[in-house]
Amino acid sequence: MTTYITTPIYYVNAMPHLGHAYTTVVVDTYARFQRLCGNNVRFQTGTDEHGEKIAQAAEQEGVRPKEFVDRVSTVFREIWPLLSVSPDNIIRTTDFAHVQTVQTILQQVYDKGDIYFSEYCGHYCRGCERFLTEKELIDGKCPDHLTEPEEIAEQNYFFKMSRYQDWLVDHIKQNPDFITPWRYRNEVLSFLSDPLEDLCISRPISRLTWGISLPFDDKFVTYVWFDALINYLTGLGWPGHENFSAFWPVAEHVIGKDILKPHGIYWPAMLKSMGLAPFKKLHVHGYWNIDKTKMSKSLGNVVRPKELLDEYGVDTVRYFFLKEMSFGLDSSFSHDAVIARQKSDLANDLGNLFSRSLTMVIKYNDSLVPEADLDNLVALDREVIAAARKMVAGYRQAMLDFRFHKGLQAIWDFISLLNRYIVTNAPWELAKDEDKTQRLGTVLYFLMEGLRFVALLLKPVMPEASMKMALALGLEEELADSRLDIHGHWGKLQPGVEVSQGRQLFPRMEKKKKTGQSAKKQVNKKKDNVEHEEQNGAGDGLISFDDFSQVELRVAEVVAAEKIVKSDNLLKLTVKAPDERIIVAGIARFYTPEELRGRKVIIVANLKPVKLMGVVSHGMVLAVKGQDSNGDERLVIATVDGDILPGSRIN
Ligand code: ME8
Ligand code: MG
Repeated sequence: MTTYITTPIYYVNAMPHLGHAYTTVVVDTYARFQRLCGNNVRFQTGTDEHGEKIAQAAEQEGVRPKEFVDRVSTVFREIWPLLSVSPDNIIRTTDFAHVQTVQTILQQVYDKGDIYFSEYCGHYCRGCERFLTEKELIDGKCPDHLTEPEEIAEQNYFFKMSRYQDWLVDHIKQNPDFITPWRYRNEVLSFLSDPLEDLCISRPISRLTWGISLPFDDKFVTYVWFDALINYLTGLGWPGHENFSAFWPVAEHVIGKDILKPHGIYWPAMLKSMGLAPFKKLHVHGYWNIDKTKMSKSLGNVVRPKELLDEYGVDTVRYFFLKEMSFGLDSSFSHDAVIARQKSDLANDLGNLFSRSLTMVIKYNDSLVPEADLDNLVALDREVIAAARKMVAGYRQAMLDFRFHKGLQAIWDFISLLNRYIVTNAPWELAKDEDKTQRLGTVLYFLMEGLRFVALLLKPVMPEASMKMALALGLEEELADSRLDIHGHWGKLQPGVEVSQGRQLFPRMEKKKKTGQSAKKQVNKKKDNVEHEEQNGAGDGLISFDDFSQVELRVAEVVAAEKIVKSDNLLKLTVKAPDERIIVAGIARFYTPEELRGRKVIIVANLKPVKLMGVVSHGMVLAVKGQDSNGDERLVIATVDGDILPGSRIN
């Protein structure tokens, strides 16, 4: 099987920001996942270097466009390794091969009669570098750039896009996977429900010289989108190179929703006109927002990838991207959200499981993976084996479907199970009893084998952490060329392998918090002001939305509840939110454990753990204390109404 997967080529009018890093990490993860499945993969990214925006940016810096694009494209190229991103090809639209390809294609489409000369008058948005239709404007402005477009009337060359409208509608309808998620497919179909205008594909050199000359009229340069989209072909050596025949039939493009129209409409029409098959799939994601507006260079509210990497490390950044955003929907970025993920999912759930398990093998079995006593497995062991199989299947399907957060959830469900497995089996107790050596061996083997699965499945998402895990588990070589076993067979790990404690997988965040806040100030000036006001004692008892959103409220399902013996009012609840945690709640006088089981309650999920009567509580259950209609003192827990998954965040 082969895969060709691409990112957009990014404009070099400004430095890379979090949005660019996100798309590229997504594509890198998908490429690595496909390789893990044994497929032949080609991953391409690059930079879009022509057009008005870039000419202007160069002028502002007082340098020639070429010098400018050389400099900025280098910055893009150099950020990828820092994000553990390894493309097979990085294309630049100023590459000679690309310029040639664009000219060949223009001539071909022109000869076919799909390009004509005409006059046009329309609303031109400089930010989008395209004419917007009347319908796209909101209050007379471009909805993405919040600026009024210019009215431009000039003679230009046009591509007969309208000719391909009916074909495109049919193609989209007959190929449900052509544009996903579904909402974007519908958005394109809705654009196409009105007659399509032809596409203006030139700019007169009186207005712009920084572009590719039209081969049939050198008083014009090529419109930047017609130039840019062709990169996906140039990178394969269209038309003659073997990469073209191998990879074009399986081309998948990943983009943000801002560039849906060029990819969902212009590009398939261009390909059709050239007599080529359309790409296979277009995967469209939503925006990273800051304070509800899109993070973008034109709005100036950007977060730099470098800043995130310095602050949190590459594994956390990649994990955060993939876990926090449901591919297709918008997400909001905050440093607190990154810190929360790092602490709970990475340092706590995974990091602790990893270091505890290794410590036990080192301590109780001379650092050697013991043998499992397969003839005497207990129910919990079988549960782990079945869960591993389920994890692999769920993960694989989710990754194929671009539902990365689901893929990670499948892994983390398994991690929770292993953490529970440790608690239930209490290896430290088994170690005290010589008769239980065999059982201890089984438990430790299961932990090591479970971690082998986790390390393998995390390879596409967190290559570095996965490698650190492999090293400590003594599986460096195996994991380097292991394939995903789609049946999830348990027990491949060989007893006798020597493990070591390894390096800490994820740094603790505490020390770094300070700089985290300074980074936060840079992206959020408002918050800055608020902090000053508080320092000056000018608070008026009101809190800002920012302050409120520090409190992480989540829906939690009570899976077990019991009284804490020494106390008359404390209950120990085991809740799923969605990972399991223990919460101690002072509600035993008002609720019996039986009444709580299966209930969906609301918890504060990011409280510092506290120890109550010897039990560590990871959060707080929300409850109301007041009087009932008889005037009696009551305490009732806050619950949620309706079908909602545990773990859902309350905003
Ligand atoms: O549009 N959230 O380049 P560009 C998520 N050169 N993703 C974001 C984002 C955000 N807030 N901001 C940017 C161009 N992106 C053209 C593309 S392709 C033939 C030509 C990501 O530098 C996302 O992938 O404006 C988006 O589609 C892309 O950057 C736009 O990058
Ligand atoms: Mg843009």
